[in-house]
Amino acid sequence: MSGLFVTLEGGDGSGKSTQAALLERWLVDAGHTVLRTREPGGTAFGEEVREIVLHSRGFITPRAEALLYAADRAQHIATKVRPALERGEVVIQDRYIDSSVAYQGSGRVLGPDEIRAVSEWATEGLSPDLTVLIDLDETAARARLDGDQKRFDRLEAEKDDFHRRVRASFLAIAEAEPARFLVVDGALPPEVIAESVRARVEALLG
Ligand code: TYD
Repeated sequence: MSGLFVTLEGGDGSGKSTQAALLERWLVDAGHTVLRTREPGGTAFGEEVREIVLHSRGFITPRAEALLYAADRAQHIATKVRPALERGEVVIQDRYIDSSVAYQGSGRVLGPDEIRAVSEWATEGLSPDLTVLIDLDETAARARLDGDQKRFDRLEAEKDDFHRRVRASFLAIAEAEPARFLVVDGALPPEVIAESVRARVEALLG
């Protein structure tokens, strides 16, 4: 595959969407074709799954939840992301397998290895070239979300302790795979973060 696959990870309110938008603009200005997308969502099927996993009122068992994210991912990677990479495009994706490992694998009762295995099966093992982890203290992240005044989804409504475990899990994944990761401090100004992301992407584009 000739394209470049960049994923953004981090807790809710860490600033991923801002960085995805800044990176997209910079790449497009430099003449690249970019697919900016997200999970859950990114396909019509995925948007329906997103509505269920984020806003369903009833209790969803951890295994059912994990499979819903994996189903969204299978559809998204097969129908949108792989074709774009095969065309040589740069894919900027908000959340991927690491989110499942952090949220479903460590935040809840299932183990990180089994969660990763399910998603790797779903995606036939597609791994990002670069994953940017925007690390932010969960209290600061929560303050940003409160400022937005939007309705909290099921995950955002979880207790602080859950978000602390998610953050620790992301950092552990990054530590285990340093070559794939760029870890940035989410408390830094967006432009400073964007600059370090651009430097890594530039190096990968050659
Ligand atoms: P996100 O789209 O980043 O939320 P928002 O657009 O509201 O900022 O992610 C939605 C939520 O889904 C987020 O709380 C994390 C969660 N999530 C998982 O639990 N597992 C996953 O595999 C993915 C992709 C997301």
